[in-house]
Amino acid sequence: MKRIAIFASGRGSNGLKIINHLKNSSEHEVSTILSNNSTSGIIESAIKLDIPYLAFNRNDFYRSQEVLEYLKNYEIDYIILAGFMWLFPEYLIENYPEKVLNIHPSLLPKYGGKGMYGMHVHRAVHEKREEYSGITIHFVNPEYDKGRILLQTKVKLSKEDTPEEIESKVLRLEHHFYPRIVENYCK
Ligand code: GAR
Repeated sequence: MKRIAIFASGRGSNGLKIINHLKNSSEHEVSTILSNNSTSGIIESAIKLDIPYLAFNRNDFYRSQEVLEYLKNYEIDYIILAGFMWLFPEYLIENYPEKVLNIHPSLLPKYGGKGMYGMHVHRAVHEKREEYSGITIHFVNPEYDKGRILLQTKVKLSKEDTPEEIESKVLRLEHHFYPRIVENYCK
């Protein structure tokens, strides 16, 4: 059984899709959920589904070992970032080499880097009148959005798409592919 921790910051729709996809798996368990935001949708889901969770602040995360100790205590094998908006710290990556995955709502390296997350990405794609957008699922390294890519897939945009419509096209791809990649990779 591979034990998975999901990190998310907000709405948590990707996290929830992963939880639902794996709920009857005999090989995977979403063992805990972690968030930098105690009032986030993902924490609401954790409470509703009775999944253990930890909400932490900047100090816990960057200047203490609390999160690492928590993950070790839960015997976590893989860490899945699903809409997690803080830079993932080096000490955690070092403890989980090639075991931390992230999803980004663009075709990296386009629209990646500091400040490029969530709707900021879709607004930038909209402003540039891109013909395509898409998703990138990648390993996490100490730089924003720079780790080795596991999967990238695109969706055609139309000239009339608003940033919100771009987001919903991209989310559809995320919801389909991320749970399946997590299932296949975390073995
Ligand atoms: C998703 O689109 C995810 O790719 C993005 O935030 C959204 C979270 O939605 N992540 C990033 O921008 C990370 N740089 P969700 O909370 O509904 O899963």
